[in-house]
Order: sequence, then C-alpha cells, then structure tokens
Amino acid sequence: MRDANPQTIYLKDYSVPEYLIHEVDLNFDLGEEHTVVVARLTLQRNPQSQSPNQELTLMGEDLNLLGVELDGTALHAQQYVQTDTSLTIHQAPQDGIFVLKIENSINPKANTAFEGLYQSSTMLCTQCEAEGFRKITYFLDRPDVMSRFKTTLVADKDKYPVLLSNGNKVEQGELAGNRHWVSWEDPFAKPCYLFALVAGQLECIEDRFVTMSGREISLQIYVEAHDVDKCDHAMQSLKNAMRWDEEVYGREYDLDLYMIVAVGHFNMGAMENKGLNIFNTKFVLARPDTATDSDYEHIEGVIGHEYFHNWSGNRVTCRDWFQLSLKEGFTVFRDQQFSGDRASKAVKRIEDVNMLRARQFAEDAGPLAHPIRPEAYIEINNFYTLTVYEKGAEVVRMLHTLLGGEGFRKGCDLYFQRHDGQAVTCDDFVSAMEDANGRDLTQFRRWYSQAGTPQLNVEQHYDAESGQLELTLRQHCPDTPGQTDKPPLHIPVKIGLLNSRGQVELIKLDGRPPVEETVLELTEAEQSFALSGLAEQPTVSWLRGFSAPVIVKMQRSLEELAFLLSYDSDTFNRWEASQQLAGQVIADLIADIQQGRELTLNPVIVEAYTKLLEQQWDDLSYFSLLLALPDESYLASQMDVIDVDAIHQAREFVKKSLAERLQAHFLRLYRENHREESGQFDAGAIGRRRIKNTCLHYLSTLETGDSQSLSLRQFEGAANMTDQMASLSAIVNSRHPAKQACLEQFYRQWQDEDLVIDKWFALQASSHWPGTFAKVQQLLQHSAFDMKNPNRVRSLVGAFSQANPVHFHARDGSGYHFLADQVIALDKLNPQVASRMVTALTQWRRYDDERQQLMKAVLQRIIDTEAISTDVFETASKSLA
Ligand code: ARG
Ligand code: ZN
Repeated sequence: MRDANPQTIYLKDYSVPEYLIHEVDLNFDLGEEHTVVVARLTLQRNPQSQSPNQELTLMGEDLNLLGVELDGTALHAQQYVQTDTSLTIHQAPQDGIFVLKIENSINPKANTAFEGLYQSSTMLCTQCEAEGFRKITYFLDRPDVMSRFKTTLVADKDKYPVLLSNGNKVEQGELAGNRHWVSWEDPFAKPCYLFALVAGQLECIEDRFVTMSGREISLQIYVEAHDVDKCDHAMQSLKNAMRWDEEVYGREYDLDLYMIVAVGHFNMGAMENKGLNIFNTKFVLARPDTATDSDYEHIEGVIGHEYFHNWSGNRVTCRDWFQLSLKEGFTVFRDQQFSGDRASKAVKRIEDVNMLRARQFAEDAGPLAHPIRPEAYIEINNFYTLTVYEKGAEVVRMLHTLLGGEGFRKGCDLYFQRHDGQAVTCDDFVSAMEDANGRDLTQFRRWYSQAGTPQLNVEQHYDAESGQLELTLRQHCPDTPGQTDKPPLHIPVKIGLLNSRGQVELIKLDGRPPVEETVLELTEAEQSFALSGLAEQPTVSWLRGFSAPVIVKMQRSLEELAFLLSYDSDTFNRWEASQQLAGQVIADLIADIQQGRELTLNPVIVEAYTKLLEQQWDDLSYFSLLLALPDESYLASQMDVIDVDAIHQAREFVKKSLAERLQAHFLRLYRENHREESGQFDAGAIGRRRIKNTCLHYLSTLETGDSQSLSLRQFEGAANMTDQMASLSAIVNSRHPAKQACLEQFYRQWQDEDLVIDKWFALQASSHWPGTFAKVQQLLQHSAFDMKNPNRVRSLVGAFSQANPVHFHARDGSGYHFLADQVIALDKLNPQVASRMVTALTQWRRYDDERQQLMKAVLQRIIDTEAISTDVFETASKSLA
C-alpha cells in the first residue's frame, strides 16, 4: 500500500550496487499459508562502489523475519534494523567474502497481488519480475546483481508431488511425515528477477530437441491434469522457436532442460525465468475446439518471445529497469520476425502496426507518454507499456532497416559476444550495432530518449522538362510531458514508385544504380531528395512496410487510394490504402451525422471492394484484412474530438451498406470457404476460416431471416472455436432471436474450460448492442466471475472499458463510475492489474467537455480513495496531470 509520499526513482541517479551477491542458497519449506525461507547469501563488497557507506541494505516486503546470522554467528537486534521495505545490517564486512543467513516466513495464500510466491488453484508459483523477489526474502533486488542460485524445495508429497526451480535437478530425497525434497542448481549467474519455483499436482508433457551442436534438450510442459490434451501446439511452437533462433540468430539453448508451467492466475502473459518459464494458461493451452486461430497465433508468439529471452534478456540482461526496452523491445522484434516467418509476413506486419497505431500512438500522445527508455518512475510495474514493448520493437526494426539484415545480425553477434553474462544498457546495444557496422548512430539514439510520435509531412514536385521528382520531407515531434522543442530524429523512410499503369517505376537517386525500393534517411527537420530520369509523374508509395513509427501527413484523393489499393506492390501499403480509403469515407459520414445530414455510401468504396472481391487471392488472411474496415479505436485516433457514437454509427452504416451491395459476393465467398472442419492450424485452413468469417460478419448486419439462419447454422455446426466464436459474435452483435439461447448453450458446453468462459464474458462485455451495460453489471454478479482472477477481470472489466467505446463512454458517465468502482475494489487485491484498468480513463482530453468532466471526476475519486496503491496512484495522478 502507498506510503504517504510515493518516491520517484530517476535514471540519472543510477549507481553501481554497494555489494555483490555471488552465491544464493535457498531452502523453502513450502506450505500454502506458511512457507519458511532460509537464504544463505555469499556476499562481497563491490570493489567498483565509490560509496563510503558501511551498511548493507537489502530490500524486503511483506516478510516475517525469523533470524539473521553473519558468518555463522546470530546477529542480535542492535546489529540490524528492519523497515517495511528493507533490512539493514550495520557494520557489514568491507573486505573479503562473507555469508549472511536469513530466515523468514511468508504466506502465499494471502498474496492476491501475484507478485513473489503465491497460490494459483492447488499450486504454488512465483513471479519475480520486476521486483517480486523481495517478497520472498531480503535481497539486493536489482537486475545488476547477478548470482548463482541453488534451491531446495521441501513439501508434502501428496499436495506438492512436483517441485521445480531453475536449472538442473541435482538431488532429491524423502523425509519423514510423507514429505520430500528436491534440489535445483542453475549454473548461470542471473539476477533474482529470473528466479522461479513451482510446486503442485502437475502433469508433464515431454519432448526433446537436438540443438545445432547436437546436444539433446529435454522439453517439458507442466499443466493441471485436465489440460494435458491442450499442450501440443505449445510444444510444437517451442521446437519451432528453438530451431528458428539457431537459424536466424545463430543462438543455441544452453541448459539441458527447458520447462514451461501454465498457471491460471497470472498478472501478465508469461515470464522468461531461466529454464523455467511460467505462463498464463491463455498462452499455452489450445485445442481446436477450445482455442481460436488467433489464440494459436498468440501462443506461438508468446512461447517464442519467452524462449528468445534466454539470449535477449537472460544471458544478457538489463542494468536497471529503465533499460527494460533493451530486452523487451528487442525480444518483441524477434518474436514478430519469428511469427512472420512462420505464417504470413504481410499479415503479421499489418496486425502489429494496427495495434501500434491504435494503442501505442494514443499512449504516446497522452499524459502517460514516455520514451522507450523512461527517465523516472514511481512503480516500475506501470512501465511494462506498449511504448517500451511495441515502440521499442519498432526502434529495433529501424536499426534492422538501416543496417540491413546482415549488418543487423553482425551487430547482434557482437552484442551477445561482448556482453554475455552482463547486465547492460540500451546504449551498449546501439554501440554494438555501430561497432559491428562502422556506423555512427549518435542521432539515432534520440529514439531512446524522446517520447511522442513524430509527424512526417511529405511533398512532391515533378518537373516534366528535367524528368526530376523532388521529394521534400519535414519532421516534427509534438511536445509530451516534460519534453518540448525536440531535435530531429534519424528516420528511415522506405519508398517505391508506381507509374500510371500501376507498374513499378525504378528509383534513380544520386547517380546510384536504379532500384525498385529505397530507404531515404531523414536526419534533418526538413530535407529534400531528387529522383531523376522519370518520363512521367509517378505515384509515390511512402513509408513502405511502415518503416518507422511515425504519422505521415499527406492528402490523397479517394481515386489515388483506390489506385494504390489495386497496384501497390508493397503488401503493407496496399492494405494501408484500403484503410485510408475506408477511413475517409467513414470520416465524411461522421461529419454528415454531426451535421444531421442524410447518409449515403460513397460509390468509390463499393467499386474498390468489388474489384477486390472479383480477384483471386492466394493469401486469404491478407485478403480478409483488405476487406476489414478500420477499427473504431483507429478512427477515433483520427478525430480532433472523439465522437464515439458518430464513429460507431458511421462505421456500422458502411458495413451494412457494403453488405447490401455486395451480398452476392460475400455469400459466394462464404460458401466457397465454409467447411465444418475440426480446425487444422495451417495457413490454408486459417485463411479459409478468416475470409469466411469476415463475410459472415458483413452478412449478419443485414438481419434477414437468411443471414440469421446462416450464423445460427454455423454456430450449431461449428467443430472448432474459431467458427463457433465468430458465429456467436455475429449473433450477439445483432438482433438475433436465438441470442439468449446461444449464450446459454455456449456456457453450458464450456463451463469447465476457464479460458473459453473468459471469451464468453469478453464477447458480451464488448458487444455494441443496446443493453450491454446492464448485462455487464449482471455478469459481475455471475457465479463464474472472480475478482481474484486477472484473466476474468480482463475479460469483463477490461473488455468493457477498453473494447467497447460506445457503452463505456455512455454520455451519463455510468461506464466511468462502474470502472472506478471496480478499480477501487480490485486495488485491494491486485494493484498491478487495477492500475492497468485505470488506463481506460487516461485519454480523457480527447473527448467532449462533458465527458472530460466526468472522467476527471472519477480519476479524482480513485486518487482520493483511502490507502490506494502506489501503482494506481501513479497512473491516475499522471493521467490527470
Ligand atoms: N518479462 C515478461 C515478458 O516476457 C513480462 C514481465 C512483466 N512483469 C510485470 N511486472 N509487469 O514480457
Ligand atoms: Zn518479454
């Protein structure tokens, strides 16, 4: 809970640790309400420390101290001092190695914040990143203190038959009283945030992987007994990730054992603890009838992500938490590459950018904006943000674009070689890139310290006589909290040219050989590039592949967009043209709604869609994306003052009008691609399901007897979750007579599958249909709702506040009050998750005056709540600032 005066931590205050901990020997006597921890720490004063301080201060929270010994002698109460957050040993040895033995007890069952050691159903497990280890024992809980861990777990044999920790199992034995013990040793020194233990009644699925140097690794996934039939995809994904990291980055796994445990109560997605990843069940468990295609993709991505951390995070880790993007931005980039290589690169890129623009750009434009390497925080858990992760990945991607694939790989090799076993900084990463490539990235480094999304103005001027095209680019980065008048960034702008027949026009720049595509390196506030040898004025395809996380400002006519949608050879920009075209059509309709004008659909979009629908497509997933209208959140980001109702009404109008005009096409495509198949996870089948369900969604807006029976038939015949969810979603978001019956049937069918019931909650909470708010209030009282389960909270409270703009932003403020009530209740149990929920209110400045007042008032109510956590306090108070 919050101190009277929450402390801010600053990057500029970093200093090296005063002590080092070489060895950690841990003994856990495990019990759900009473666990005794004995830690033997082998310490030494850090020769690098300049501090005159002779005390040793360890961090600790919610610990019950039982005793302290220094080099075998018990310390008496005058030799140390304890606070709520620390243990200070006076007169700690200044020379040589010494051993501190600390004994304390903890109560895992009372730990509802899920940080440190806690209980999830019948198992005990840990989450230590960022600062959870201090809730297990007193320690120098900071990532630049790296130690070798040995861990012994002692527990009841029936309650906790499986006992796991990092590294290799070295010994085990039996004890009196039906108890047993297991010892683990991790040969790699690591920061304590990578420590993990798991104890429980778990089943294990096993496989093996032979590394590139021929070592055999044992792979194990641990789950509760009823989930053993849902691990195949996770295991296959792990093997794919291991192979991929060898092939693409030359990185081999280092231990002989790799374990993954799935737990039902987890604050985030997953955690890369050395040799013992702990995962939210959501990112492990999948069977075709319980998980959608998008679940399958997320599982593959997250399994890859945590595996890739073994090098980008564990072997080379962060010096301090300000450097979080060093491991997260890089690892997200790596998992994005992996997923793109596994399935469709085009689709993966579009999905990533879509998320970035709809959500990270909003963060970067709001009161919580911060650079990917923040300079200050109150609670580090609040900085596991879209900016640090997703924008961080874009920054790494730009390095890849600027240095080329080979140069980037050389930089990575040097980085891993130079810093293996070290805790380093973002600067070290960039330096390795520079040194391996002989390039100066001084200006590029500004991406690490500058917040806000840069805006790019682009202009072109064609001179027919000389055949020259002059491209002028201007960059500007808007002010963000604490940052004004920012210097220009180094921005890679990838471009291509199209001639009037839609064919590739070669680029001739600075006398270099002609190329189909080039990267313009923008480094000035304003800069021009002259392209020569052009017989006619070409169309420029700007920022191909979304080569930089910026907003391009330029006016294009609907005709020009339709032209690019037909002919741009860059898959990203072709999709971008579809989004902009639909976006402009919807924006005009929004204006019509606001002016009280009658709505008519612009025929340009019908023509463009007709053209798309008449073509043959190999990549049906990509085709589906071209047919998808921009999300409401993206449309909102394009408005000066967000009008949730007009956005929704305009978008629905376009959807329905397109369905009316193109009904025959949608129906044909639906029929061509509909099979009642059990759900194979291969690109062909995924694409068929995706395009079919896109068509179903259009058709269901018609609300005819035919369209209603189409979705009902699909619901009843569905043999996989993708088809079942898509049809249920069509039913729930329309006036379907079978709505209630289908929801009940779905619940009865899946009541024993938590992850499917999460979907059931989320679908109802995000429905745009009238009456949703009352439904959400009812669901809060449902016997299956559980405020102690983060996945359940996210699927009801999170989905309503973050994925249901029309109802959450109801004019009367009911949605805001509801959220505040839930945040305040949840904060008493789980501050980290509560703080996430507050972010739905952060963008208050983007709405009309009345809504602004209402949102500000509930933020203030949250801040004024007695004993609110520092987590929630930081998010809410910075949102208001
Ligand atoms: N390192 C984990 C990952 O793979 C996430 C840890 C999140 N921790 C937190 N306190 N939010 O991304
Ligand atoms: Zn990560």
